[in-house]
Amino acid sequence: MKAKGLDDVIIVDNPPIALDIIRKRALTEIQEESLFICDLTDVIKKHRIWTQFLPRVIPFYAVKCNDSPMVLKILAALGTGFDCASKGEIKKVLDLGVPPSRIIYANPTKPNSHLSYAETSKVHMMTFDSEIELYKVKKLFPDAKLVLRIRCDAKKALCPLGEKFGCDPDIEAPTLINLAYELGLKMVGISFHVGSGCMDLSAYGRAIYTARKLFDYAARIGYYLTILDIGGGYPGDKGNNFVELSHSINAALDKYFPNDDVTIIAEPGRFYVSSAYTLACRIHSKREVVRDGKIINMMYFINDGVYGSFNCVLYDHQVPHPVPIENFKSEILPTSIWGPTCDALDQVCNDVLLPKMQIDDVLMFENMGAYTVPICSKFNGFPLPIVKYYLEKSYLAELLTLDGLNP
Ligand SMILES: Cc1ncc(COP(=O)(O)O)c(C=O)c1O
Repeated sequence: MKAKGLDDVIIVDNPPIALDIIRKRALTEIQEESLFICDLTDVIKKHRIWTQFLPRVIPFYAVKCNDSPMVLKILAALGTGFDCASKGEIKKVLDLGVPPSRIIYANPTKPNSHLSYAETSKVHMMTFDSEIELYKVKKLFPDAKLVLRIRCDAKKALCPLGEKFGCDPDIEAPTLINLAYELGLKMVGISFHVGSGCMDLSAYGRAIYTARKLFDYAARIGYYLTILDIGGGYPGDKGNNFVELSHSINAALDKYFPNDDVTIIAEPGRFYVSSAYTLACRIHSKREVVRDGKIINMMYFINDGVYGSFNCVLYDHQVPHPVPIENFKSEILPTSIWGPTCDALDQVCNDVLLPKMQIDDVLMFENMGAYTVPICSKFNGFPLPIVKYYLEKSYLAELLTLDGLNP
């Protein structure tokens, strides 16, 4: 069954089970390229979880995390906003028919040409964290709606961001608010990003409290801020602790921002896409490292690696979990899994225990939707992965009632 705007999507009657699909397709389709199974139903379910557990927070999906047109189209139809990091991402989202008011240009440092593009495209809302950017905005986009990004780091996160972005909330933030005011710029809010893949439940509460103090400071200067942007960092793997996290966020919002005069937004990335993507890779070579007659390392070489979909190992500090798609009864061995390139850095897994497998066997990796697809390269001449999109029929019916699903 085909649907308008979803031509590339395979519509199925029952919930798509990645393992079953991979088993069916493994023999014919996973040859040169690795294969992603993307369950768009999972993205829709995530949106429902978000709206149920963070009802006060409007999600602006972070496009950088996975810019697949199909994912963006579904989210646009569901009515999320978008966090864009560049002119290219802004264009991608606008081309889907999303109004500029549903975009935040959330890169605190902007090349002039990108800032001018935001101006001509009427994407007003943007973050900043330094004086230089304020002068740039004054010159190129004086009508912009500015959101000051402050630094509030989680104690533990997969990818801390605070060293690169976010001004010191106590020392620098008041100075920047004063300067924005002197320059006659429109400052509308405060944002933070506690770190991508946040593993510190109390981080958002601390940051929301810090933002509150700056709302109060700004009011004393003459700014009545209306936007609190609580950034990204929410977990998105299967079995994550998002619900627990949402309770601590809601408690802090209710304490420090009890009224609805402030619009609360967030920039979730991995939350929406991580669990929707499952990757299947084929073993094309293997090597046994034997000492004293015993295999001490079973090395498998597969058709995807850290220069392809597993770039998340290098850039996002992820630890992929390989699952054989058949129930092998063979001997369990200490195993390492390697990508196809000639680079020794191209290692997907080190020291995992797996049953002994053969050339052409297939491994499956779940939770592969975040910071994978947009960063893949063809390094060493290896092809990019194939992506197959699936959607359950009952969810399609709901989607088609929404605006925004245009071909
Ligand atoms: C400004 C900004 N917003 C949102 C995100 C998304 O973060 P996450 O995928 O952890 O939700 C990032 C990630 O780097 C970011 O830099």
